[in-house]
Amino acid sequence: PLDYEPSDLVDIPARFVARDDRTLQLRREACDALVRMLGAALADDVDIQVNSAYRSGSRQEQIYRRNVRRNPGQRSSARPGHSEHQLGTTVDLTDPPGEYGFSQEFVDTPQGQWLEQHAHEFGFRRTYYPENDEETGYIPEPWHWRYMGDALSR
Ligand code: DAL
Ligand code: ZN
Repeated sequence: PLDYEPSDLVDIPARFVARDDRTLQLRREACDALVRMLGAALADDVDIQVNSAYRSGSRQEQIYRRNVRRNPGQRSSARPGHSEHQLGTTVDLTDPPGEYGFSQEFVDTPQGQWLEQHAHEFGFRRTYYPENDEETGYIPEPWHWRYMGDALSR
C-alpha cells in the first residue's frame, strides 16, 4: 500500500551518508548489514556512501512526478507504491564525491566493482541488470542494492 511504512526504521550512521547534513533510514536488520558491508569496503580502502535509502510512498510520488515531467519516457523512477525504497531495505550507493552516483559508469568505479564482488556476502543483491531490464521494465541500476538476507543474496 502507498502508506506502508516499516516499523523498525533506524538512522544510517552519518559517516556513511553522502552529504551528511540529512538523515537517511533503513530497517534495523538491513542497516546493520549495510554498516558491516561498508565497513568491510573501507577496510579494503574503498569508501562507499549512501545517496538514498528508505523513501515513503508520498516522497516517491514527488520524485516520480518530477522525473516524469522532465522525461515522460523515463524508465528508472518507480511509480509510487512500487519502489523497493519504500520497503526500507534498499539503498542507492555512490563514490564519496558523488560523481558516479546514479550513473551507468558507477559499475566501473572501485566502489561499483567492490559491490559486484562482495555485496552478496553481506546479504545485498543488485536488482536491475542489463540482463533483466526487459523483465523489470527498468534500466540497469548499478547503484541500487537491496538487502535480502544471506541465503537469498548468495
Ligand atoms: N529505482 C527503482 C526502480 C526502484 O525505486 O525500485
Ligand atoms: Zn534505488
